[in-house]
Amino acid sequence: MLRVIAIDGPAGSGKTTTAQSVARAVGFAHLDSGALYRAVTLAGLDAGTLDSVEATLAAAEAAHVALIPGDDPFRPQASGVDVSEAVRSARVTAQVARVAAWPAVREWVNRQLRATATAHPAGVVVDGRDIGTVVFPDAPLKVFLTADPEVRARRRLAQEGRAADAGNLGQTAAQLGSRDAADARRAVAPLKPAPDAVVLDGTALGFNEQVTEILRLVRKMFPQLDIGPTQD
Ligand code: DC
Repeated sequence: MLRVIAIDGPAGSGKTTTAQSVARAVGFAHLDSGALYRAVTLAGLDAGTLDSVEATLAAAEAAHVALIPGDDPFRPQASGVDVSEAVRSARVTAQVARVAAWPAVREWVNRQLRATATAHPAGVVVDGRDIGTVVFPDAPLKVFLTADPEVRARRRLAQEGRAADAGNLGQTAAQLGSRDAADARRAVAPLKPAPDAVVLDGTALGFNEQVTEILRLVRKMFPQLDIGPTQD
């Protein structure tokens, strides 16, 4: 059986931190597919090629952009350097939705994700937007996380270490909303739950409850895994 857990959802739904916690609890590796789109975008920005998909992919190839197994999780690398911080910069965030809309980039990223996942001896938790719909449609467990825009904006500000006030909450929620709309409207691999995904609304759930709920599903779908006692 394919040992893949797919966790999809919009920006700020907490899917990356959730995927990381689930992976730790289960003994799987964690692949953050968004980090790979961001690393391709960074390579294109640094090479000045973002006006051309071919040149951007060539820049990504030349820089050997990849997710490299580290302590936890896999970390994005370009030109032999860990770019975990750089891929979160505002200049990358501003361009990444455009780059992620290019079909050739999506195919390139998907090939990397599949090769990395199948090579992993234990199994992987992969988070993104189209993991359950396109990248691993055969994943035994697919989760789609949602949450109200304001809750997601609060989480995003906390992640960035900024205090939430009325002004930046509204502004952040609007930015997340426009990125979601771009991701959901694009022609290729739009953001949406797979037909067999479990949709979890994290608006009222705390982070721990969200992880606990997914671990309950993991125990059901992967009964052979030894992941400790059920907490319910
Ligand atoms: O989750 P994130 O903010 O790091 O994602 C960065 C961008 O990449 C975002 O615009 C959505 C896009 N993305 C995607 O299209 N498909 C994925 N599987 C993961 C991310």
